[in-house]
Amino acid sequence: MNQLFHPAGPLRGRLHVAADKSVSHRAAIVGAMGSEPVRIRGYLDAADTNSTLAAVGELGAIVERRDGELLIRGCGLRGARQPAAPIDVGNAGTLMRLLPGWLAFQVDRSFTLDGDESIRRRPVDRIAEPLRLMGAQIDARDGRLPPFTVRGAPLHGTHYRLPVASAQVKSCVLLAGLVTEGTTVIEPVPTRDHTERLLLSAGATVRRAGDAAAGYSTRVGNVDELELELIEVPGDLSSAAFLIVAGVLVPGSRLVLEGVGVNWTRAGLLRILERMGAIVVGELEPAGNFAAAEPIADLDISSAPITATTVQAHEVPLAIDELPLVALLGCFAEGETVVRGAAELRVKESDRIATVVEGLRGLGADIEASPDGFAVRGTGGLRGGRIDAHGDHRLALLGAVAGLASREGVEVVGMEAAAVSYPGFGDDLATLAGGSRW
Ligand code: S3P
Repeated sequence: MNQLFHPAGPLRGRLHVAADKSVSHRAAIVGAMGSEPVRIRGYLDAADTNSTLAAVGELGAIVERRDGELLIRGCGLRGARQPAAPIDVGNAGTLMRLLPGWLAFQVDRSFTLDGDESIRRRPVDRIAEPLRLMGAQIDARDGRLPPFTVRGAPLHGTHYRLPVASAQVKSCVLLAGLVTEGTTVIEPVPTRDHTERLLLSAGATVRRAGDAAAGYSTRVGNVDELELELIEVPGDLSSAAFLIVAGVLVPGSRLVLEGVGVNWTRAGLLRILERMGAIVVGELEPAGNFAAAEPIADLDISSAPITATTVQAHEVPLAIDELPLVALLGCFAEGETVVRGAAELRVKESDRIATVVEGLRGLGADIEASPDGFAVRGTGGLRGGRIDAHGDHRLALLGAVAGLASREGVEVVGMEAAAVSYPGFGDDLATLAGGSRW
């Protein structure tokens, strides 16, 4: 589906953005691992997170919809059933990489995971390696790609240093570590910690330590069961990010986004925006905080001129999904905006260094790729044109926001990709535009 996004007049209004995708996936998985029913308030109703509900259903969890909430009756830590057919993860990389952490200790049962064309290009060796070290057997296509099979076994603890900063891999190892005598994951720089917070609220002991020199370690182990009654899913900062950037770039805009999750391990874009001189007001979580609750805030955004910045490697995991938007901001900023240390972008739903650079260049941007990022010189605006989403939801949404801020508008090829994370984007935009230009 192709969709045109015309240059917008001021965006104004107040709304609640889509629920957090990362937290929703985890809520469904941890709910399915529990022994008592768990209520989930505000679960994201989108293709990716619906794949997770279907997956836990295949494994024996019962998912009910009640009074606008979900109720998950889990299988218990060790009670996942072996499904008759492969589990279809659809387009959801987070589901594909987290679920095996649970499946790895379902003794004498095996589980095959597969997904769409894009998922089949995404590496799983990064989770296979630590799970094998812990005792599970994993067989993947060409040793590293889906479909892949996890054969559950009694697991032993590990001390695993992540070769790349990845919250998905960290989460997978921590889930597997729950039934070991003790498992520690060390990451080079902090990544999103939603799994740790959820496990903490479910009664697990989660210990964190470390620093930049030694690496950041998280330790779990020895849990008999997970127990938690209610999970409240915050608004998704990664979805909000598209509206935030639209608000910053479209002259005369003023918008308030309510109940947005501002966990500091997700809020990198807000710090980057602050450096660029954007006006985004809201109470953020102090860096380094660790508590069971997911903090939320109302974010108040006004358009303003911006200046260029450099995003360094240690900031990358805190803004990983928002880096395409940093490229767009760079087109409008005074000076050269540079992103480094972000080679991980190449293994997302698309190669996001290539697709962002080619896509924005096609709209008139002065942008160049590097092996681990990009550099963009601000030219005071963006002409517009046509951009292909390449089946990647964040590219589709990037194209839409680029269109609103452009001089001539943008046609997004493959806008339907946005539905995996933010199906209500069009409605939210219409609300902010007073419905007049869409
Ligand atoms: C996610 C972690 C990130 C992110 C992805 C969601 C998560 O991936 O890009 O969209 O929910 O844990 P990596 O852990 O591979 O960096």
